[in-house]
Amino acid sequence: MATRHFLDLDKIPAPQLRQIVDAAHAMKRAGKRVPSKLRPKDIEDAVLVMIFEQPSTRTRVSFDIGMRQLGGQTINLNHNDLQLGRGESTSDTARVLSRYADIIMIRANSHETVLQLAEHASIPVINGLTDRSHPCQVMADIMTLEENKGKISGRKIAYIGDGNNMATSWIHAAVQFDFELRIACPEELQPDPQVVAWAKKKKGKIIIGADASKAAKDVDCVVTDTWVSMGQSGAERRKALLKPFQVDDAIMGKAAPDAIFMHCLPAYRGNEVTASVIDGPQSVIFDEAENRLHAQKAILAWCLGSDRS
Ligand code: CP
Ligand code: NVA
Repeated sequence: MATRHFLDLDKIPAPQLRQIVDAAHAMKRAGKRVPSKLRPKDIEDAVLVMIFEQPSTRTRVSFDIGMRQLGGQTINLNHNDLQLGRGESTSDTARVLSRYADIIMIRANSHETVLQLAEHASIPVINGLTDRSHPCQVMADIMTLEENKGKISGRKIAYIGDGNNMATSWIHAAVQFDFELRIACPEELQPDPQVVAWAKKKKGKIIIGADASKAAKDVDCVVTDTWVSMGQSGAERRKALLKPFQVDDAIMGKAAPDAIFMHCLPAYRGNEVTASVIDGPQSVIFDEAENRLHAQKAILAWCLGSDRS
């Protein structure tokens, strides 16, 4: 059977992504003691190796605790702890780790590193964020939206801010889960044109413009992200370009009255979002952060073939 990597939301068939989100809802209902029907076979013998080339709070802790709650074990490594940090090749690292561990989760500076790891590993590889995308986060976001609004299909979501890694995963999700995604961003910080072209080819409902108020009109959810992502330079210029894209009360006022606000965190109050919005009644950011845990368990279970045993 083919190894199940979790690399990007455009690489996994839509019915399987749906199955993972449904499993994530079930994981949340089940709580800490995951019932055997949701666990992969022989999970007690499985070890997740996590590699971080960048800092992480949510991804690190939710994967670690999620794997333990499934019944498996974890090893948590900074890339400088590995020979990878001294120049050992990604392909050799992949082959070696495949002889010890059962699954790898990596947060990498470059998307290419994750692709190489997956190409040479004989065990599943999960993308825990790269410069290109953040698919695990958007799975938790979909789950969070569904808790508040019901099924995501047919909903309208406004992504306001930098056309970054989160934007890419939101575009993939809009196609795969069939919702309308309106992106408002500066001309210079638009999402990857190849990703947009893919979505257009798939007849995705993606609307890109530079008017945040227009994008937010009547939407079910407003989402934003930091103006300066990990590894990005030119912070001052980025902030100047993104200033008109701050999510404030006026923007939330354009959305549907019961719209929710989401942010993957970490957040920078006063930049991409005002404190009044992120700490206000429409914000679901801590449910969203909690849902990383439930979504990670569902992703791990899918990669380890819980539905195949
Ligand atoms: N949202 C997210 O991925 O957070 P961390 O960087 O803390 O993992
Ligand atoms: N776009 C942000 C997301 C952090 C979870 C970054 O890459 O830093």
